[in-house]
Formats: sequence, C-alpha cells, structure tokens
Amino acid sequence: MNTGIQAPPGIWWKPAHRSEKVWVGIAFAWCMVLFAMMPLWHLKGEQNPAGLRYKVDPQRYMERTQEFITAYQVGEDNGIPVVAPPPGSEVYLVGMMWRWTPVLKLQKGATYRLHLSSMDVNHGFSLYPINANFQVVPGYDYGLKVTPTETGDLRIVCNEFCGIGHHMMVGRVIVEDSAAAPAVPAAPANGGAE
Ligand code: CUA
Repeated sequence: MNTGIQAPPGIWWKPAHRSEKVWVGIAFAWCMVLFAMMPLWHLKGEQNPAGLRYKVDPQRYMERTQEFITAYQVGEDNGIPVVAPPPGSEVYLVGMMWRWTPVLKLQKGATYRLHLSSMDVNHGFSLYPINANFQVVPGYDYGLKVTPTETGDLRIVCNEFCGIGHHMMVGRVIVEDSAAAPAVPAAPANGGAE
C-alpha cells in the first residue's frame, strides 16, 4: 500500500503506455482544430462587428455627446441623464473614470449607430447579460451599427481595469418595445432635468 509518505514506485521514466500516447495525440489534434477555428470563425462567423473607427479629440467627443443628451434627454437616473434617441439616429456613449454617460433608452428592432469613446483611459464596454464586448479607447470614436433584438434592462460593465473605481463602473441600456408608450425610467426621474 502506498501511503503517500513513501516515494512512488520508480516507473515514470519508462516509455508511455500506448493509450497515453493515443490521448496525447487526440489532445494535440483537438488543439489544432481549435487553433484553426480562430481564423475560420473570424471569416465565417456572424459575430464580427461592422465597426468604424475614427480619431477624435476627447473634448470634441464630449461636446458632441452633450449635444446628443440635450436633444433627446427624457429623464435622469442617479444623476446620469436618460436619453431616448429616435430610431436611426447617432447615439453617443462616453466612458470615463468611473461611469458611463448617458443611460440609453433604445427601441427593439430599431437600428442606431452607437458611438463609443473614452475621456481618460481605456475602458471596456461589456453588455450584460448579452455577451457583447468592445474596447472604449480615448481619442477614438468607435461607431457600431446596433439593432436591439430583445427588450430588457441591460447593464454596461467595464471589463478593462481602469483604476480604483473600476468595479463600480456600471452603465445602463434600456430596450423597450417600440409599441410601448415612452415610460418614465424605473429610477426616480428628475422632471426638470432638461
Ligand atoms: Cu472603466 Cu474599468
């Protein structure tokens, strides 16, 4: 009996058993399959974003976002403006230490151009519970064509470490049925916000 205190029987340097070799072969072959899937999925998969990237001055981007907020604000959620842009519009979202501005209220089935940029450092746009991830980079405007396919109250979680408040950097996207009447946001709204 081997108690674990004694040295194991000295056989490990003997040639591997045939079944072990077979399994190493299977594992290696599977590695190759997964390796091939990476470029294949990039070309054949439907998950690639049709994004456009432009260089942008962060201050200019902030001004554009402010114009956007002023034009379409419908309320406020914890001090963050809630914005309901019309279908087909240009939508601006800013990431900064440590919040996302504004809260977006979108319509299911409508198409928007979502612009993402950062005021300070790299942030990560990660939409929960949907698995959509994009880099939010200062100095660049990332324009994504988006069409929400489901209604919901979604969260934008920052998934790029950006400092001490990183874990608290949570934004919000609300997707409503286009038929639904424009509702007041769930959180206390500030009527005089606009
Ligand atoms: Cu922003 Cu982490």
